[in-house]
Amino acid sequence: MEMNNKRPFYFFVFFIFVLVAFAFWQGGRRGLFRQAEITGFTHSWDTIIPNQDVPAGMHALNAKECGKCHQEIYQEWKMSTHAHAWTDEQYQAELAKNKDLFVCKNCHLPVQNQQKMITTGLYDGDYFRPVQKKNPRFDESLQKEGVTCIACHMNNNTIIGSHPNINATHPVKMDTEYLSEKLCVSCHDAHDDLAEDLVCTFETGMEWRAGPYAKKGKNCISCHMPEVERPSATGAISRKGHRHYFPGSGIPKVKGEKVKKLDGLTFEVDTVHGAQFTRFALKVTNQNAGHKVPTGDPERHILIQFDLFKDDQIVQSDTFRIGEKWQWWPKARKLSDNNLLPLESRTYEKKYPIVPNHHYAWQVTVTKHRMTPEIHAYHHLSEKYPLSIEIFRKRVDF
Ligand code: HEC
Ligand code: HEC
Ligand code: HEC
Ligand code: HEC
Ligand code: HEC
Repeated sequence: MEMNNKRPFYFFVFFIFVLVAFAFWQGGRRGLFRQAEITGFTHSWDTIIPNQDVPAGMHALNAKECGKCHQEIYQEWKMSTHAHAWTDEQYQAELAKNKDLFVCKNCHLPVQNQQKMITTGLYDGDYFRPVQKKNPRFDESLQKEGVTCIACHMNNNTIIGSHPNINATHPVKMDTEYLSEKLCVSCHDAHDDLAEDLVCTFETGMEWRAGPYAKKGKNCISCHMPEVERPSATGAISRKGHRHYFPGSGIPKVKGEKVKKLDGLTFEVDTVHGAQFTRFALKVTNQNAGHKVPTGDPERHILIQFDLFKDDQIVQSDTFRIGEKWQWWPKARKLSDNNLLPLESRTYEKKYPIVPNHHYAWQVTVTKHRMTPEIHAYHHLSEKYPLSIEIFRKRVDF
């Protein structure tokens, strides 16, 4: 009897104990009990463009507002991957697993008005423990737009343009140095270890600099923002400007969605008939890209599949892979990289012990992949999120 009366009391004491233990654990993480050292930033992507004011002559900072006058540019940008940098399904899935990892937002939401929190430093240099306060000027409409117009066109509360003597409805400062390939490279070239099992590795800028195009004066903008002559805004005069589709891999973000793409690779099929064998070869050349193919995200890869048919049944398949291989755990480390350098050619071949007759056919299929089906499953991504596209297919009947 007596014991039963005391039970609620013991539960209460235990509850308080759990509460205090939790408070100590959280406090320890945040460095409240000892003088946690607040460290500053060391990478270019640790900091972002500070909160910007709406310029005179405008009502908001978002792309929709810019699109009222810059209609064509707005329509092009809307189709670009940049416009999906925040809403991308894989990105959102990865972010959900790393809620404290502020650094993921800095290239995908590069203006402070796009982020809920202002990050001012790190506790003990740990990327998972940022020093943060609320951003009173957070703008959700701007957040949805990812790499939006002002991510590239605004700094110090001023719109940055590339032509002199512009007569706009809003103030414009010309700064061709700011709007150069340096802007692209600031996000498309990052290589550093954030933690043992977390690295940032985008080397597109480095690959371009080391390749033949930088010397010839062809940069990211020459290939990804081709020139076009047109009025850049309603009522403006026609002059040389640039398309804003930013075409790339051509793998859409949503199944069936139309995207612009660039083709980096060219293909040549070669057949050799021997006395006792037939040899098929595919020569792949990185003819048009100013960097490796694939580039950027280390999960990107290309698969080349050879199929041998007998009476329309596949009797032999062989697959070759172009891409990087990584070990992610316990320490992230690149294991191999056979991405094609700019202008590099490589031949994939297979010798079959058959002499040609009408029973046989041979087919090559080349596909470009964003990630493997394993990673797609790991992140629980939906069926609507496309993994790959086909870029080449050829069948040879004997
Ligand atoms: C009310 C209409 C209007 C709005 C809204 C507007 N612009 Fe403009 N903008 C213009 C006009 C007109 C020009 C001058 C174009 C010309 O003369 O070629 C211009 C010029 C520019 C230029 C310089 C172009 C160059 O050739 O150097 C940039 C960059 C620019 N705007 C970006 C923006 C961005 C970014 C936004 C949204 C945050 C925006 N504009 C909103 C009308 C507008
Ligand atoms: C503020 C950071 C940032 C800047 C500046 C930037 N990009 Fe990007 N870019 C991104 C991000 C993030 C993505 C990927 C978005 C996604 O996949 O969700 C991307 C995607 C792309 C893609 C598409 C890749 C594909 O496979 O579809 C191309 C091409 C590209 N950027 C070119 C450029 C060029 C050219 C410039 C310079 C004019 C530039 N970027 C400037 C962050 C940036
Ligand atoms: C990823 C960076 C990036 C984004 C995002 C971007 N621009 Fe640009 N934009 C540029 C660059 C770089 C140039 C200048 C190219 C040059 O002159 O070499 C440019 C040029 C312009 C120009 C001058 C005329 C022209 O066509 O060259 C206008 C106007 C402009 N952009 C408006 C916009 C608007 C509006 C948006 C959003 C709908 C936008 N830009 C999004 C990078 C960007
Ligand atoms: C000589 C033209 C050229 C130059 C210069 C160039 N690119 Fe590309 N880029 C391409 C082509 C072509 C592709 C398509 C490759 C393919 O077939 O997948 C591409 C693809 C990409 C992709 C998509 C990733 C992929 O594997 O498909 C990104 C991102 C990109 N480029 C960014 C950049 C950046 C950033 C720069 C400047 C540092 C740059 N590019 C310079 C032509 C160029
Ligand atoms: C230094 C700038 C930068 C940082 C920091 C950054 N990203 Fe990105 N992210 C990019 C660029 C640039 C691309 C486009 C790369 C390409 O297509 O070659 C991209 C593309 C992506 C994509 C799309 C890949 C695809 O296949 O389409 C995802 C998902 C992504 N990033 C997740 C993250 C996560 C998670 C973090 C934090 C760990 C992060 N990013 C941090 C610049 C950055």
